[in-house]
Parts: sequence; C-alpha cells; structure tokens
Amino acid sequence: MSTHIGAERGQIAERVLMPGDPLRAKWIAETFLTDATCYSTVRNMFGFTGTYRGVPVSVQGSGMGIPSISIYAHELINDYGAKTLVRVGSCGALADSLQLRDVIAAIGASTDSAINRQRFDGMIDYAPVADFGLLRGAVDAAAGRDIDVKVGQVLSADVFYTDRPDLPERLAGYGVLAVEMEAAALYTLAAKFDVRALALLTVSDHIVRGEALPAADRERSFSQMVEIALDTVTA
Ligand code: ADE
Repeated sequence: MSTHIGAERGQIAERVLMPGDPLRAKWIAETFLTDATCYSTVRNMFGFTGTYRGVPVSVQGSGMGIPSISIYAHELINDYGAKTLVRVGSCGALADSLQLRDVIAAIGASTDSAINRQRFDGMIDYAPVADFGLLRGAVDAAAGRDIDVKVGQVLSADVFYTDRPDLPERLAGYGVLAVEMEAAALYTLAAKFDVRALALLTVSDHIVRGEALPAADRERSFSQMVEIALDTVTA
C-alpha cells in the first residue's frame, strides 16, 4: 500500500474519478460501475475499481481542500500509475449567468493557496490549467447527452468560511465562474507528473445570490456530471 491508500499496485485503474466525499465515491461505484470492488478503506477515504462500458475505472475520495487532494493525487499517480484524473465535485457559483445544477468544466483554476508561490519561490503566479484533450472530450460528451456544460475558470479557495467574501465577488469581475477547493492542486500535480487532469463541478450553491440546492436534489444533479466524466475518461 501507499502511505494513505490501502491498495496493491494493479488494483487501481489508470483512469480515476475523484469526488471529495468518500461516500460519493461509494455511490458512484455502486451506481455507475460494473463489478466494483473496494480497494481501500484507510481513514474511510474509500476507493473502488470497476468497469464502465468494459473499461477499468477507479473512483477515489479526495477529501476536502488542497492538502487532502494533493496527497491522494500524488499517491494515485506515483504509487499506482494513474494517468487520467477527473475531479467530480461541487462548487459555489459567482457568475450571474450560472444556475443551480449547472455543470462547469474548469479550464483553469486561480487560487489563494500558497502552494505554487512556495513552489516557485514567490516569483511566479503559476496558472494551473486543465488537460485540453480531456476538456474537449468533456464538452463533446456533454453535447452528446444534451447537457450545456459551462467552460471557464474557477477559484480553488483555501478557506470555505472566508473573512473576505468580497474577494470571490471581485474575481467574478475577471471571469471566475465559481469557487471550489481542489482543482488548482490537481492541475498543478498533473502537470508536474505529466498526466492528464480535469475538474468537473456541479453548482450546489450560488454565493452571490445566496441560493443552495436542497440535499435531496444534489444526487440527481451530480449524476449528469458523473456520466460526462465517465464518457470522457473512457472515450
Ligand atoms: N463547494 C460547494 N460550494 C462551495 C463554496 N461555496 N465554496 C467553496 N467550495 C464549495
């Protein structure tokens, strides 16, 4: 096993979906994959491998925030040979054009995290971006399902209960569609280790308008995003 994932090498597929919530990983595996088995219960951060349309796919919970997803992405890539990582998560919308349940494909991820300032000695504002092939694949997969996926950049925030609610709103004026908490790290690590990554996000709340999806609605909206992600990684 690796430090945080209790699997043997070979038990995790090259294609991995990464929801933040480990119970979402279980739900995705049980709902969408064939013959899914659980390969890790370490810290209850469940991981499963099964097949989708005959192609091996894993689903690994990432936890919340940049430190947590960085650990799981690092080990998936370096200890288990993952080559394609797609985050499937939720986000809080900033853009007025967005509605609850909309699906966003994050072309890039600004962040208030210091991970890349530290990495480049404070000299570079590194721009973490999605893999273009995956992004195009997701847009095509969404079109094939008649889903109007919104493509744009997001903010990967370090703090959920922020003291600076004005900042995300100011970023909205620079084209930032929504706030989530992981994509910038996933994109940076994918670039560092030369693998492919994409973040797909369902709008669960609208930060500016103060709207939120009722809990019961979340699962159904999440399904569309998961289907786009599975179509994309197995195309
Ligand atoms: N994920 C879902 N809603 C969010 C929000 N408002 N801020 C950060 N991450 C989120």
